[in-house]
Amino acid sequence: MDAQSPRLMQALSNRVRPSDASYRQKLVERAAQLDDVIMMGLGDPDAPTPRHVVEAVAAAISEGRVKYTHPAGMPPLRQAIADYLARVYGLDYAASEVIVTAGTQEAVMLCMLALVDPGDEIILPAPRFTSYDTAIRMLDGVLVPVQTREEDGFALRPDAVEAAITDRTKAVVVVTPNNPTGAVTPPDAIRAIAEICRRHDIVAISDEIYAALLFDGAEHLSMATLPGMRDRTITINGFSKSHAMTGWRIGYVAAPAQVIARLIEPRHTLSISASTPSQHAALAAATGPQSAVDEILDTYVARRKVLLAGLDALGFTYGTPAGAFYVYVNVSSWGMPATRFCERLLEEARVMVQPGMLFADPDDRYVRFSLLQTEERIREALDRMREAMPRIRV
Ligand SMILES: Cc1ncc(COP(=O)(O)O)c(C=O)c1O
Repeated sequence: MDAQSPRLMQALSNRVRPSDASYRQKLVERAAQLDDVIMMGLGDPDAPTPRHVVEAVAAAISEGRVKYTHPAGMPPLRQAIADYLARVYGLDYAASEVIVTAGTQEAVMLCMLALVDPGDEIILPAPRFTSYDTAIRMLDGVLVPVQTREEDGFALRPDAVEAAITDRTKAVVVVTPNNPTGAVTPPDAIRAIAEICRRHDIVAISDEIYAALLFDGAEHLSMATLPGMRDRTITINGFSKSHAMTGWRIGYVAAPAQVIARLIEPRHTLSISASTPSQHAALAAATGPQSAVDEILDTYVARRKVLLAGLDALGFTYGTPAGAFYVYVNVSSWGMPATRFCERLLEEARVMVQPGMLFADPDDRYVRFSLLQTEERIREALDRMREAMPRIRV
């Protein structure tokens, strides 16, 4: 407890309990004390934001188009997102069925605010992006994890989803491709999960933030395109990962108009409207050439090849990632839990990766690598690991 403000600490609500983020902080702080650490586990694309996006924002700013917007977003951007979703994923939303948020992160919170009453159960995969955990907990909901496994390439299995359903289940969240595993839930499994949602009368939340990043011919199927699913699905997405636009903070929720109408007031309460210059950026990203996305993807393909070959040579196994820019690696062959592995690797090789514990994985054997360093740096990280292996492995 902070000795300076004990009264204030006692006054804090249960909603702001401490979390595992402190472990991430511990690793980051240690990395900052070391020289030339290669960050191999990050989730922030290294590519620059596409040029035409930056130019569109510069023009908007110099013309003074920087006032508040409608809380749901600028009308042309809502339309552009609806068009983009139709063009890229075959989704059928009108502009009035899109609400623009401050990053996909805010879309996650908004979705949970919209759905979770105390005691409601929300099914999610493990491991996962744990902002869902915080959002659900803050609303006194109950997160029901469904473990995904290396032998299935960490894909979410419909039978496991169905087994997790109770009479308190309100929704299942499908994140495909997933963070931190890069697993794509294949179209057949999406169809099966949709069928389960219909049969048990539950809602689907489809987090498609990595859907533009697929490898080896993997296919993405958007839940809300399936029969009977548009009315029971909330689709969330954003520009951070696909368009290398993390710092611009633009995401969105797409859902039937009556649902979106109910989200406008809570969205206004959170931050009135998403940043206006950033909305101009997103408009350019959604309407302009998509060649930058393809170029970024080509880079990931090449890096993925290098990283997977290097991990193979070092004797690791992993679920072959079919999308996103992560590889979820089983480090048990080095004779220690994943948390220890991360600490030792940082000290001995100055390579930083993130343990599965930061992704709510109860199985302490896995760490997240990512493809967000140049090929040269990835090779160097692998060389350092090879060199440090005799000192680390037990
Ligand atoms: C699955 C998932 N959803 C949402 C987000 C939030 O993304 P944004 O940067 O758009 O807020 C992330 C970020 O890592 C993520 O991995």
